[in-house]
Amino acid sequence: MSEAIAEAPWRHIEVEPLAPSLGAVVRGVDLAAPTTAQLEEIKAAWAQHLVLTFPEQTLDREAHKAFGRAFGTLHVHPLNHARGGDAEILVVKTDADSKYTAGDAWHTDVTCDAVPPLGSALYITEVPPSGGGDTLFANMYLAWETLSESLQAFLSDKFAVHDGALPYVGAYGVSPPEGSNYPRNRHPIAPRHPVTGKRLLYVNSGFTTHIEGLKREESRAILDLLFRHIERNPRFQCRVRWQPGTLTLWDNRCTQHHALWDYYPERRYGERVSILGDAAPSL
Ligand code: SIN
Repeated sequence: MSEAIAEAPWRHIEVEPLAPSLGAVVRGVDLAAPTTAQLEEIKAAWAQHLVLTFPEQTLDREAHKAFGRAFGTLHVHPLNHARGGDAEILVVKTDADSKYTAGDAWHTDVTCDAVPPLGSALYITEVPPSGGGDTLFANMYLAWETLSESLQAFLSDKFAVHDGALPYVGAYGVSPPEGSNYPRNRHPIAPRHPVTGKRLLYVNSGFTTHIEGLKREESRAILDLLFRHIERNPRFQCRVRWQPGTLTLWDNRCTQHHALWDYYPERRYGERVSILGDAAPSL
């Protein structure tokens, strides 16, 4: 645990680290009615731990959205055109009829957007009765820092393309609204976090199609190497075990996550809000 984490003077919430590299459990706050002082401490704890999980919450949609709005404007997911309902809520529902589950691979959310969401808050209300359905998170600062200096030097000025059609059409089979395409944008491979200024690894197996300026097979080989680096390093990771009423808030700029679908044919249900970013990822 870093000194900063050990010394944090929490006076209005309780914060217990989940793993050395990222993640903390936060108690002692009702997210339906947090005080200003609690929100300030939640923001500070979020900056330190990147992923915060709040057990035993009771939130209706409006309270969930109000909590998300404490961090910025809510994002409208590109898939919500096909789903109807509340445009600011992404329903995460998996049951015996599901052909896929949202987020069942390492990724961060909606990096196809020019300005991807800065964070997401997922509120789970139903968990599989026999267990499972955990979510793994990984720290992308550490993923960058643990690459060799030579590879960092090679990647540090490169850009990669993130295409919404890859997951939304390729994996989920949902066409974009008639006459339009899903967002497709280029982002640096090692941008700096807009708040901390620290570099991080920003390739996304869910959305990244290729690295610009390389031959196709070179780009594929390097992306696969980077994706494996993220997937295979428990040292960067923590694991969130959900209960009905757990809300988890993650920094979408410097973490990735993988929702484990190990509970078929059982059911899991939750709703997510995401918060609009304030700047495109930049060097
Ligand atoms: C997601 O936002 O990718 C889904 C995460 C989860 O269901 O745990």
